[in-house]
Amino acid sequence: MPVTAAPRRPRNDLAQYDDMADTWWDPTGPFAALHWLAAERGELIPAALRPGARLVDLGCGAGLLAPHVPAGYEHHGIDLNAAALQQAAARGVVTHRADVTAVPLADGFADVVVAGELLEHVPDVEGVVSEAVRLLRPGGTVVLDTIAPGWWADLSLVRVAERLPGGPPPRIHDPRLFVAPARLRAAFAAGGMRLTLRGLRPHARDYLRFLRDRRRRVRFVPVRSLRALYQGWGVKP
Ligand SMILES: C[S@@+](CC[C@H](N)C(=O)[O-])C[C@H]1O[C@@H](n2cnc3c(N)ncnc32)[C@H](O)[C@@H]1O
Repeated sequence: MPVTAAPRRPRNDLAQYDDMADTWWDPTGPFAALHWLAAERGELIPAALRPGARLVDLGCGAGLLAPHVPAGYEHHGIDLNAAALQQAAARGVVTHRADVTAVPLADGFADVVVAGELLEHVPDVEGVVSEAVRLLRPGGTVVLDTIAPGWWADLSLVRVAERLPGGPPPRIHDPRLFVAPARLRAAFAAGGMRLTLRGLRPHARDYLRFLRDRRRRVRFVPVRSLRALYQGWGVKP
């Protein structure tokens, strides 16, 4: 049987996740960087403070965060992609097929809400943030990472990184959807939450090692600049 090449999709077409459905858990495949970022994100998740603590993973994909969720959480994943959710469920995630702007879970359901590499794919960022705040119980923590707009992110994370091993899959990002830190801060402030932000860049030596043997995780280094990839976290009062 001839292998059919994936069609060339418009930028940020969610059908790309179907084209690449078999590659989510390949640590050297098109989602390699999502594996590395999931590990970084996991380090910001607080320990579960009560029995039955719940973590809601918005835009969970195939559940790459699952190995990095601290013990004691029930991990709930929200996504629109059925193939990805099936793989997340196989990793112990309780899955909900839904839009992240209309999550079918009760107010205050979550001790932690995570939005990893999601916001830069969704036009209604304020809608997602308002869901995150609604889902959090008082004292709950939000953890996120996303990409800022501007020429530097466009150059480094789209034009260059899409052509590099371990970089994002070509055309997965539409730079017009990248999320300004000020916009994100304002959206959380509207829900009464203050976000702390920091930039991230790949650890250069780790990346060179990855190029050499394609085996190792690439760690990320915190940076002051919020002009490309950045992380955020905050607690609901
Ligand atoms: C770049 S992937 C990140 C997946 C996962 N958070 C990770 O880091 O491995 C973005 C995910 O968001 C999902 N997504 C995009 N827009 C969505 C929406 N409006 N509602 C639910 N899921 C959405 C996609 O299906 C995809 O699985």
